[in-house]
Amino acid sequence: MKSPEERRAVPIGPILGIESSCDDTAAAVLSADGAVLAEAVHSQAGHAEFGGVVPEIAARAHLAVLPDLVARVMAKAGVRFGDLSAIAASSGPGLIGGLIVGSGFAKGAAIAHRLPYIAINHLEAHALTARLPVLGLEAAFPYLLLLVSGGHCQCIAVEGVGRHVRLGGTIDDAVGEAFDKVAKLLGLGWPGGPALEKLAAEGSATAYRFPRPLIGRTGCDFSFSGLKTAVANLAATFPAGALPRQVAADIAASFQQAVADVVADRATHAMAMFGEAHPGAKLAVVAGGVAANATLRASLLAACNKAGFRFAAPPLRYCTDNAVMVAWAGLERLRAGLVDGLDVAPRPRWPLAELSA
Ligand code: KG4
Ligand code: ZN
Repeated sequence: MKSPEERRAVPIGPILGIESSCDDTAAAVLSADGAVLAEAVHSQAGHAEFGGVVPEIAARAHLAVLPDLVARVMAKAGVRFGDLSAIAASSGPGLIGGLIVGSGFAKGAAIAHRLPYIAINHLEAHALTARLPVLGLEAAFPYLLLLVSGGHCQCIAVEGVGRHVRLGGTIDDAVGEAFDKVAKLLGLGWPGGPALEKLAAEGSATAYRFPRPLIGRTGCDFSFSGLKTAVANLAATFPAGALPRQVAADIAASFQQAVADVVADRATHAMAMFGEAHPGAKLAVVAGGVAANATLRASLLAACNKAGFRFAAPPLRYCTDNAVMVAWAGLERLRAGLVDGLDVAPRPRWPLAELSA
């Protein structure tokens, strides 16, 4: 095997990225300059009947799907393992079973083909996506990341590769989790966010005045449990399973507006905090599945405009979990000379503050 010094001297070739931290199995091959040569995402179907991701089902599905998925993207990219400069895999935070499958596969391939292995922090992968050349977002460091997904809800100052400062985050539910729980209360399927947004289009956002937790408070932490409880209490005033459709639509619209107001307020505080540390840097990037929500996007855009920040939203397939972001984070780390030993273990919890730079 080549030493790290020898490796660094070799021009960087394509990179394979693997994502398996939750319920999406994904693989992607990027060229050395970050062009997407091939990508595939397999969204697991077996969780809906349980109303949420079942870790054991997820891990087994990753195991069943990943080898073929990798073979397909490699073939589509026209790249052999021997051509790669490295293999990167999500190594946390996330569901440990899936992380073991993805990182174990990556390490095995790295050993077999004598390639460097790069353990990717899934949050850093979301954070660096905006720098993907094909997106043309021109996200130079530093910028503010608003991560709004089913598992994560954080405001992060992205200062460089391996250099991220968490400005605030949720103290209870993630924003997507709140959407999913309220959707369940309204009798909608899982994942609930998209169904709730659809139903909300038939309702009035001013029908109910739900609480807006932490709004106006200093800092940029989030809380959604009080809002969710308010919806639950209202829904409980109707006989079980007998929520009239118009009432459900009004609740959905009013809840969605409350979330949008909270997120805009918290983002405004995050921009102020970010601005104090980085005067002159005026870019806010959104990531995570909830970025699909049009009401939330509109209120974030308005908040950014008001604060004088440029608002950048990658296309949705790069906001949600994917392997392009993992491969790209791998390239960024490889360029910075950051590769990992095969003894680096996947971690269910891996705060950004503990990243190496
Ligand atoms: O980033 P993502 O695909 O997966 C992770 O959580 O990592 O985000 C999924 C979350 C789910 O909670 C889903 O309900 C929410 O994003 N979501 C939405 C919408 N589309 C997806 N929430 C509100 N409105 C939407 N249109
Ligand atoms: Zn994610």
